[in-house]
This record gives sequence, C-alpha cells and structure tokens, in this order.
Amino acid sequence: MTKNKSIYILGIESSCDDTSAAVICNGKILSNVVANQEIHAKYGGVVPELASRAHQQNIVPVIQQAIQQANIDKKDLNAIAFTRGPGLMGSLLVGTSFAKSLSLALNIPLIAVNHMQGHVLAHFIEEENQQKPPFPFLCLTISGGHTQIVKITNYFTMEVIGETLDDAVGEAYDKSAKILGLPYPGGPLVDKYANLGNPKAFKFTKPKVDGLNFSFSGLKTAILYFIQKKVKENPNFIEENLNDICASIQFTIVEILFDKLKKAVKQTGINHIAIAGGVSANSEIRKVLKSYEEKLGWTTYIPKFEYTTDNAGMIAIVGYLKYLENDFSNDATTATARLKVSEN
Ligand code: KG4
Ligand code: ZN
Repeated sequence: MTKNKSIYILGIESSCDDTSAAVICNGKILSNVVANQEIHAKYGGVVPELASRAHQQNIVPVIQQAIQQANIDKKDLNAIAFTRGPGLMGSLLVGTSFAKSLSLALNIPLIAVNHMQGHVLAHFIEEENQQKPPFPFLCLTISGGHTQIVKITNYFTMEVIGETLDDAVGEAYDKSAKILGLPYPGGPLVDKYANLGNPKAFKFTKPKVDGLNFSFSGLKTAILYFIQKKVKENPNFIEENLNDICASIQFTIVEILFDKLKKAVKQTGINHIAIAGGVSANSEIRKVLKSYEEKLGWTTYIPKFEYTTDNAGMIAIVGYLKYLENDFSNDATTATARLKVSEN
C-alpha cells in the first residue's frame, strides 16, 4: 500500500481590494497571507485603479510569504489556483497573469476558481472541531458584492434560490456607516458599536420583496433621511446616539436576512444552514444563526473568521477539490468580472 500523497496547492486571490496567497495541503491550510489595501479608506470605498496598482505591488511579497510560512519550496507545489472572477477586472488581471506565469515557470497545472464558490466551499477546509456541511445544504452568502441564498447539491452544483435585487448587504452596512461618518469598510464598525447599543431604539421599515429575494437600497435611503432629519434637530445626534443607531440598523438588517432564510428552509426542507462571505463575520448574524439550532432544529455551519472576508485559503480549497477531479484550466482561461456562483 502506498501512503497517501501530499498535494500542495497555491491559492491566489485578487478580486477586489485584498491581495492574498495561501498554501493548502490535502485540504489543510498551511498558510493564508492577506495584505489589506488601506489606501481606499480615505476615499470611502474601493478605487479600482488604485486596487490593481496595489495588487501589483503586493502580489510577489504575499506569495513569497505564503510559501515561506507553509515551510515548503515552490518546487513542491502541485498546482496553482487563482480567482478568475467575479470582481474588478483590473484586480483580477493581476492575479490571473501572475498565476499563469508561475504555472508556466514551474510547469504545473493551473486551476481557475469562482470567487463565490470559494466563499461557500471554505466550509470544506480541514479544521479541528469544525464540522463540514453534508449535501444538500443552504448557504447564506453575504459580502460587499453579493447577498444570496444558495442551494449546494455537491461541490460544484450550486443554485441561487434567492438574491438581492439591488444593493448587497455589505453595501448596506458600508453605506450606512458612511452616512454616520465612519470610515470604509464600515461593516465591522457598525457591528462593534451595535453591540453597545439598544437595537429597539429606532425603527426602520423592512422592504417588502417577493419570494426569497432581498432588497437593501430602500433601507439605506430610509437611514439617510432619518439621520438628515435628526441632525437638523440636533447637530450632535449621531455622536450622542451612535451605538443605538448602529444597533437599530444591525437589528433591521439581521431580521431581513433571517426572515428570508427561514422561508428558504421551509420551502426546501433543508435545514443544514451555512453562512459565508465577509458579512458572515458579523457577531449578531453568528449569534442568531447559532440560536436557531435549538429554536428551530437547524444544524448550522459558521466559518472561522479568517475564512469569511476575502482570503486565498478559500481559493486554495476549491483548487484542491478541483485538483482531485482533474478539473484544470489552461493558458486560454481569462479573468471575468461577472460570474455566477453556478458557473464553474
Ligand atoms: O467577502 P468580502 O471580504 O468582500 C467581497 O467579496 O465583497 O466582504 C466585505 C464586506 C464589506 O462590506 C464589509 O463591511 C463587510 O464585509 N463586513 C462586515 C463585517 N466584517 C466585514 N459587515 C458587518 N459586520 C462585520 N463584522
Ligand atoms: Zn468576497
């Protein structure tokens, strides 16, 4: 009997404003290096041209660090997985071109990864005390660019059963934060202040959307008008009520998300529920989801923090799963700004 071979995959992620590289060995993460781009904070959002320039500066040191931390030599790598899309074109091109050149130089296969599948499949990274979801399961994928309820039948068969018709939930967080004068990305800050405030202090109307779809643009406008009115009455309104405002916004967002998730469970009869994407780092969303284990009999899957926001670990696990299926791409593969979670 031969011993199981060690398969080393390098994952590269550059779809938005984080440059990241990770090494995975047989599903276990050996390194996951992320360079955040602070340059965008002062512009209140990601500036695509600056993002791609920063990726160009970061990519070599980030990959070197990932290989070093994994304690391997680049010659040990079996394949290179990279994010092909969706994302910002200029950003994606940096990772794509680098992955192609490196695979050519090392003479190893190339694996194209759908970023959204990465968020979902991060649940299959080997971790101690972390259960993997069985098929089929539902995943609430919530990030700066997406808000979806996805039905996952097997690794690469995913179907969107509900999604936002306008803003993503991460955008709702970031835009609300901007209205409150908080820096980008505001999601984590709203979460932090919300924990200190009263969620019932202010009431925001929830949108009425059919089926399992979401809408967040109305909420953003409601918050804007509410703040403008209150600040007119009292210029210090935001400073004096920041925690309560954040708690009330968070309460509304979490209710909108879970109303639909509960509906999806009822409709599909599936009660293995995962969350993924940057917004799944949110403390209230994690708490409420966990509470539904006892309350509603769901089995829930909550990713480790480092695998929620954009990172190459999630790209590397998809790379590994595709490697096992001999699903390789080639030099002709191009980056694509738009890609559905159902597309491989
Ligand atoms: O998945 P991600 O890193 O990038 C995209 O693919 O979009 O998600 C980034 C989003 C941002 O909108 C950020 O504000 C939000 O995730 N986010 C949070 C929290 N941490 C990150 N939103 C709410 N609460 C958090 N704790
Ligand atoms: Zn993402």
